[in-house]
Formats: sequence, C-alpha cells, structure tokens
Amino acid sequence: MWNKIVETAEFLKTRTVVRPSSGIVLGTGLGGLVHEIKISDRIPYDEIPNFPVTTVEGHQGNLIFGELGGIPVVAMQGRFHYYEGYTMQEVTFPLRVLKALGIRQVLLSNAAGGINPGFEVGNLMVIRDHINFFPENPLRGANLGEMGTRFPDMSEPYDRQLIVLAHTIADKIGIKLREGVYIGNPGPSFETPAEYTHYRLIGGDAIGMSTIPEVIVARHMELPVFGVSVITNVAVTGNFTENSHQDVQVAANRAGTDLAALFKGVLEHSPYSR
Ligand code: HPA
Repeated sequence: MWNKIVETAEFLKTRTVVRPSSGIVLGTGLGGLVHEIKISDRIPYDEIPNFPVTTVEGHQGNLIFGELGGIPVVAMQGRFHYYEGYTMQEVTFPLRVLKALGIRQVLLSNAAGGINPGFEVGNLMVIRDHINFFPENPLRGANLGEMGTRFPDMSEPYDRQLIVLAHTIADKIGIKLREGVYIGNPGPSFETPAEYTHYRLIGGDAIGMSTIPEVIVARHMELPVFGVSVITNVAVTGNFTENSHQDVQVAANRAGTDLAALFKGVLEHSPYSR
C-alpha cells in the first residue's frame, strides 16, 4: 500500500503546482463548495492511478487543487463510502495520499440525520467526538508503519483548538453552530425509528454513513481533524418521517454556503494552515 500511496502522490505532483497545506472532504450534496475555491487544477478520480471511482448519486469525483481563504488546499469533491462496496482501505486511500502530498490538517464534512431534539434541518454541527458502528476498522491488518503507530490514540479525535475556533468564527459570521457526537453507521439503509432512538440514548447527536473511517486514518497519521455535519433530516422520538437520498441532497445543497463560509474562516485562522 505504501508504494501505491507514494506513486499516486508523485503523479499528482506532476499534475499541479499547488502544494496544499490543507485537505477538504466534501460530503453528499456539498460538492458546491468548490465554487468558493480559486481553482488551479481539477483532476477526475478516474485519471488518478490507484484511486477508486465514485458511484453514488450526488457525488462528483474530482480532486480539486487551489486556494480557499488564501490557503493552498486540495479538496475531494465526492468521497468513497463503505456502502458502495469499497474496502475500508479503499475508502481511506485518498486521505493517505493527501497526507503524502503534505497536508497538515483535514476538514471533513458530511450530510447527517439529526437525532438531538434541539436540531433543525439546515443546522451545521461541529463534531466533538464520534461512536463507530462500522463493522471493520480501516487500520485492521498489517500496520502501515511508514505513516503511523499500531495502536493510535483516540482521546482527542477532533482537534479542540479548531472546535473553539469554529465557534468564534460562527459567531462572527452569524451561523448558528451546533456541537455534538457523530454516530457512524455503514448504511446504505437509513435507520429504523427504534435505531434512531437507540443512537440518541447512547449519546449521539447526529448520524451518518461516512467520516469515521477517514478520522481513524487521519489520527493514525497524527493529522489534526476538523469535522462538520450538515443536518439534512431530523429523526427524533415522536416525530419520525420518511427519508430519501434526494431530500438529503437538497438540504445539504442549501446549507452549502454556510459550510463554505465556516471552512473558509477556519482555514484563514487555523494554526495548521501555514
Ligand atoms: N441516517 C444516516 N445517514 C444519513 C442520514 C440519516 O438519517 N441523513 C443523512 N445521512
């Protein structure tokens, strides 16, 4: 795997002069954030050696190199999900490559269901912690010793400094920013009413089908993580409604401008950006 990571990073360095300090991963319906990026290069995933190809609706598969908030960035417009059939190593391979390209922080986003009864559709939730329900850990198997230790610490999965910074920025730009615990489920079926209730009872605030594998791999590489869930539907006891992928996409799209403003602010002020 290490050889593939190096090979892919070397290929990308021949395709762009941008040397990103920061990585961005755009979740379902959130690919529009790339319009805020001053784009230098757009490379479709299917042109990148060793990259899997996206299949899910609402995801474009491009690696975008450019500038956001004056910071050199690389953004994944579309990610790889476990439910699409990829292995955990495939799901997290791009993040390994971004680290090999030199990023020093990663900003992750996702569409998620709100299970905290105080949440509303369109809210942004900065992720403070997570609970992992994926059946497999991306670090299972031989340890990739070039990139990290066998038993990575997870006592601060989401960088505290960046969480504090995000609240400051949200106050300044007038975004109502929530904070909470993200639950990661493999999907692709949405949760049943009893499951939503269960996940709320164990301490979840939002639930989605991504992000956690990437966070585990990022922490393995000691990369600071900032994560935001866009609440695209609300599922709370006494008020369960039908879910659809299309509704999730539409709601995520609408919240895209808020997410872009928040990510831009975090990049501008993060101690890891420069
Ligand atoms: N559950 C799981 N994943 C999701 C949801 C949800 O309610 N909404 C958006 N992604």
